[in-house]
Amino acid sequence: MCDIEEATNQLLDVNLHENQRSVRVTESDLRSESELLVTIGATVPTGFEQTAADEVREKLGSPCKISRDRGKIYFVISLESLAQVHCLRSVDNLFVVVQEFQDYQFKKTKEEVLKDFEDLAGKLPWSNPLKVWKINDSFKKKKAKRKKINQNSSKGKINNGQEVKIDQRNDKKDFTSHALDSHILDYYENPAIREEVSTLVGDDLASCKDETDESSKEETEPQVLKFRVTCNRAGDKHCFTSNEAARDFGGAVQDYFKWKADMTNFDVEVLLNIHDNEVIVGIALTEESLHRRNITHFGPTTLRSTLAYGMLRLCDPLPYDIIVDPMCGTGAIPIEGATEWSDCFHIAGDNNPLAVNRAANNIASLLTKKGKPSWGLPIDAVQWDICNLPLRTGSVDIIVTDLPFGKRIGSKKRNWNLYPACLREMSRVCTPTTGRAVLLTQDTKCFTKALSGMRHVWRKVDTVWVNIGGLRAAVYVLLRTPEAFVHPSEQDGERGTLW
Ligand SMILES: C[S@@+](CC[C@H](N)C(=O)[O-])C[C@H]1O[C@@H](n2cnc3c(N)ncnc32)[C@H](O)[C@@H]1O
Repeated sequence: MCDIEEATNQLLDVNLHENQRSVRVTESDLRSESELLVTIGATVPTGFEQTAADEVREKLGSPCKISRDRGKIYFVISLESLAQVHCLRSVDNLFVVVQEFQDYQFKKTKEEVLKDFEDLAGKLPWSNPLKVWKINDSFKKKKAKRKKINQNSSKGKINNGQEVKIDQRNDKKDFTSHALDSHILDYYENPAIREEVSTLVGDDLASCKDETDESSKEETEPQVLKFRVTCNRAGDKHCFTSNEAARDFGGAVQDYFKWKADMTNFDVEVLLNIHDNEVIVGIALTEESLHRRNITHFGPTTLRSTLAYGMLRLCDPLPYDIIVDPMCGTGAIPIEGATEWSDCFHIAGDNNPLAVNRAANNIASLLTKKGKPSWGLPIDAVQWDICNLPLRTGSVDIIVTDLPFGKRIGSKKRNWNLYPACLREMSRVCTPTTGRAVLLTQDTKCFTKALSGMRHVWRKVDTVWVNIGGLRAAVYVLLRTPEAFVHPSEQDGERGTLW
């Protein structure tokens, strides 16, 4: 049972000021509404949409629609399953769909389109999605503290005196270099989709007020909800920007609900997702991505736990399997494995003592996390060299690893030696016939060449293309052939006897 599920029994008693009508959600309402069907949208690592859909079908029994907008899935649940949605391992962010327009008819001029967005705000079926949003409050993991407004972000004045922050993710170059400069280190988090994203911003002054001041005010005055609108737009046939859509739609939402716009300390985040002629209005159900779950000690290339989960799922672990990540870095893959496939044994190894230390610390922090069992996790961390693993021949069922891309770690030149050596040693430790490997790399040229020399021991069964921090990378799924491993020195010897 995940942490969030523990909150399931909490009673909610709130006021939602919907068009000045007060909507009270009580325990009895919750009981009668537990059957209510709602559409949930989820962002997932691009390339792993099908994996996420499989997980949803398996754990919630709901079929999924995989969006044209890559990196998103949609599924219908009854409200009582909401807590379980937060326990999914393959999804990053969640939202409840207010309304979906599969073939939205955009008018010809910008003015007309924006006027339509304004009119839309008052026509949408907000009531049930807002109930979901409120009930969700007890399940969602709260951010420790929302960041104050980024002073460096570009701003523009809009009609009603509010401001817009423009985060032009369209510019791939900027986006990638930002990712590489980042010292947050969790650089694999960058969204893959080339979208323009704009957020309607509230009054800076109000949002920067002393928080104690704010809370004492809340005790005496009726609470007005604070909100923001985020517009994600992709497609080249639009005569408006995401900035303009967020501004005009956001202004109308504000007028309709009489909520207060606030960029940083918002209660409700309304999403306006536009992809070509598909428009989806939603309300965010997560404050931060669900991939932030296992790692406390970050490294230079920490993999998102959602991606690690997707990779592990690709190799279909069975009970008692020995699963090895021979280049584990912070241990994101084996730690995700140990928490989700606890009937397998996971080994995390790396040649860098700093990495092994980080992995060990991440395991330790997970063990001491409140509510986690104290008897341990089926995982161990070791320092080793992938080219010479201290493991018996044929003793490993599955290898899942994230190879050095040759950018942040190693170099492309070194990969020409490293990749063939990795594949050879992996083929030695992996069980012939049943062994499998799931390997992530961006250096596909080098990998393909290395694999072509190993066809007798590895058979490629699938390639999943993913986006890692703006870089296109491949996840290769390999099967160990029945051919027994022969050490290169023995091969030479055999050849010698032939001559
Ligand atoms: C892309 S990173 C892995 C990142 C990891 N998935 C994470 O989430 O932190 C590749 C790792 O391979 C390790 N590595 C490079 N050469 C190695 C070798 N010969 N033996 C073992 N590990 C090696 C690096 O130290 C690095 O931690």
